[in-house]
This record gives sequence, C-alpha cells and structure tokens, in this order.
Amino acid sequence: MTQYLLAIDQGTTSSRAIVFDASGTSVATAQQEFHQYFPKDGQVEHDAREIWDSTLAVCREALKESGVDASELAGIGITNQRETTVIWDRKTGEPIHHAIVWQDRRTASVCAKLKSDGHENTVVDRTGLLIDPYFSATKIAWILDNVEGARARADAGELAFGTVDSWLLWNLTNGRSHRTDATNASRTALFNIHEQQWDEELLALFRVPSALLPEVLDSAADFGVTDEHWLGAPVQVAGIAGDQHAALVGQACFEPGMAKSTYGTGCFLMLNTGEKALRSENRLLTTMAYRLNGKPCYAIEGSIFVAGAAMQWLRDGLRLIKHASESSAHAAEVGVDNPVYLVPAFTGLGAPHWDPHARGAIMGLTRDTGIAEIVTAGLQSVCYQTKDLIRAILNDGASLQALRVDGGMVVNDWVMQFLADILNVSVDRPRVTETTALGAAYLAGLQTGVYQSLEEIAQLWERERRFEPEMRPALREKLYAGWLDSVERVCNN
Ligand code: G3P
Repeated sequence: MTQYLLAIDQGTTSSRAIVFDASGTSVATAQQEFHQYFPKDGQVEHDAREIWDSTLAVCREALKESGVDASELAGIGITNQRETTVIWDRKTGEPIHHAIVWQDRRTASVCAKLKSDGHENTVVDRTGLLIDPYFSATKIAWILDNVEGARARADAGELAFGTVDSWLLWNLTNGRSHRTDATNASRTALFNIHEQQWDEELLALFRVPSALLPEVLDSAADFGVTDEHWLGAPVQVAGIAGDQHAALVGQACFEPGMAKSTYGTGCFLMLNTGEKALRSENRLLTTMAYRLNGKPCYAIEGSIFVAGAAMQWLRDGLRLIKHASESSAHAAEVGVDNPVYLVPAFTGLGAPHWDPHARGAIMGLTRDTGIAEIVTAGLQSVCYQTKDLIRAILNDGASLQALRVDGGMVVNDWVMQFLADILNVSVDRPRVTETTALGAAYLAGLQTGVYQSLEEIAQLWERERRFEPEMRPALREKLYAGWLDSVERVCNN
C-alpha cells in the first residue's frame, strides 16, 4: 500500500501544504499568501487567525488535489517560520495580540539594555543565541507588557505562548495539545540547549512566566491527533521542526560537516556539528539541528535577513525588472566583474554583523551604471553574504567540502555558479528543492514507521547538478574586498 505524508510549511509570507509519497516525491501542493502588517518602522506582524485559516485551507486543498484521503496519511509534519511569537487565551483559543514576526525590531532598545547590563554571555552559554530582537523572548515580554491585563493573566496560567508550530498544533488538536519541538524551542532564547529544558534563570531575565510555555518534545514524536472534522479523519502530527532545521533534514545533512543553505526571503546557512554544540567565536548561532530519540544533534547557523527579498525589492520597489527570472539576462550582460555593490541591510544586518541599525546602500555608481549593474549587484549580494557566513564558519574551525542549496533562488544557474566561484566551494543543487516541507514529511515518516532510519532517508537525496568553483583567486579576492568595504560603510558596529 502506498504511504503518504502531509507536510505543512507555514512560512513568513505564505502557508503551504504538500502531500508526499514515501519516495519523497510531491503528489500535490497548495499555497496561500497572507497579509503582512507593518504598524510602524521596524515592526512586522501577522494575524495568527489568518495563519491558521490559510493553513487549514491549503491542507484541505492539497489533499483534495492529490486524491489522497486523510485516513491514508501516515502522519503530518509541521515546519514553520521560526521565532514568530503568538500568545493566546487557553479557554477561548483567541490570540491576545497579532503575532510578532521574527523580522520585527521593536525590542531593539530592550536588547541593547540587556547587553549593556552584561547578560549576553549567559544567553550565549545557555541558548547558543545572541541577545537580539530576532528571538522570541523579548517579543513575549513586549506583548505581556503592552496588552492590558496580559501579565496577570499569564501569571495565573490563563494564557499560552507558542511559536507558529505550537499555534497550529493547538488548533489542529482543538486545544488538546500545547507542545513544540526542540528546534523551535531553541529559537526562543529561553531554552537551554545543553540541558534540553526551559531555563528558569532566562525566564526570570526576560520576564516570561513559565505557565505560558509549551511542552518540548523530540522533532519526531507523537505531538497530538488532529480533530477529525478538520481534514475528514484524525491524523497524528508526528513531526515538527523550524523551517531551517527541517530543510537540513530534507537535505539529508546528517553527518557532522554537512551544510545546507536555503534561499528564501532571507538566507539561512546551517552546518551539522553532531553531538557537539560548537560555540562560535565569530557571531554565528549555535542551534539544534534536530532532536531524535531524546538525542540532540547540534548545528551552527548563519542567518541573513534579506536574500530573495532583495530581488523582490528590485522588482516591486524599484521596478527595475518585471520578473525575477529577467535578472539572469542582466547578469550575463554585466558579467561577474561588476563594480557596483548592493548591501540589502533593509532591516539591519544579521550574522555575522548583528547590527539592527544598519540600513541598505548601493555603492560604486558611475555615470554608465545602468539597471543591469544594479540588478546583478542584487544577485551578487546574496552570494557575498553567504561568503561572510562561510568565512565565519571556517574561522570557527569547521571545514566545508560542499554546500547543498535549496529555496526559490537556486533555480538561477548564474547565481549558483557565482556562489561556487565566490565561496570557492562546490555547490550542490538537489533534485527536490522543496526541502523544507520534505524535511517535515521525513520527520513525520520517521515517527510513523514510513522510514526506519536517517540512513534510509539519506539514500533518497539526489543531486541534480553540481557547480564547481572556476574563478581566478585574484578576481575572487578583488570582488570580495569590494563587498567588505561596502558593508563596512553601512555598519554602525
Ligand atoms: O528564522 C526565520 C526563518 O525561519 C524564516 O524563514 O523561509 O519563512 O523566510 P522563511
């Protein structure tokens, strides 16, 4: 009998559902975009109700299109935009505020104060993260402090906090299950990644009552059974992981030293470090790769806030191109030796700079600069930023043979070749580039017996194309030096 898995991929700009068969082939996909709220400069919110409604709608649509009945599903895997913070009433299930999205910088001053008070070391030691508005902890406190009566209700156990996975699970199970997995917990800045539990001292530091928190399980676990009326039959939610961790699983990076880089809105590079939680000396994050059978596997992560979003800005903001696919023709015309640099620090800079106040710039303009040079600079900025991360990883003593890539931008051959050239590392593009959803399906499949082991999953990974570095070292150095110079000009650190 064919076995199917349903993956929910709840991302920053859209909710998606994909039905996979056991070979990891997608049978049907459904996707819905939802509203982005920008209440003030630096603030980004989502309506958690809309997140749930759109997720349910795409699950139903994907199942319908696939012709697979919910009763034929072995399980559901959830993967999600990480850090985004939802707080809801346990009785009514109503969110008490819009979800505060990972990109939101409203707690920058709180973070600056915590840092100047000398707390960063404790946070790094226990969570592997830095103190930055990116993570959930200060967002939770902000909601409790800004919604009338919320703090008292939280103390009394009337409210629940969750990252988006928990919120969806709560709704799918009609409030019976308030859980998350270790990867999502590891992005809150409240979870001790070495002891694998919520950290009392951090809860006190960030002023978050423990009564709010979900139970933390492995990434493949029995999270709860969906209420029958949502999909037509009860289904076990058997896998949960934050989207970047799920992509690492979908890319089958199970051995220490294996790395993937996902090019979506932002770019997130993750390197598996195995049982060892490597502490970065170069401002990268230590995070969970996944946790299976109670055994944590760690990773080192570089997070870039703007990658694909830079191309979106060139298309929708500046209207220099009509479609992202036009960018390749511009790049082919300009060539790699482009004197123009675009630093897309629209919401500050993430790793390894961590400067929330940096803003974007275009550098190196001359009288003959045209659309093609600026668009090419946009594409190149994604590769240069990846180089910043790889440099930090190498300086941390890790080594890297090849980089597995996924996400929307990797279809662009020009970008992939430039990436290999500038990194001086082989870049591997897999047959299936929907690796985030695939990873969630794999986790659910591991828990429900569709797969027996990670080795079995690793066998399913197939390379579609390898891009080998071909650039002369002198040119690589010259181009990258130009990038470093440009970044330095926008940084306040
Ligand atoms: O940490 C944020 C990340 O999980 C968001 O990913 O793909 O929704 O942009 P994405």
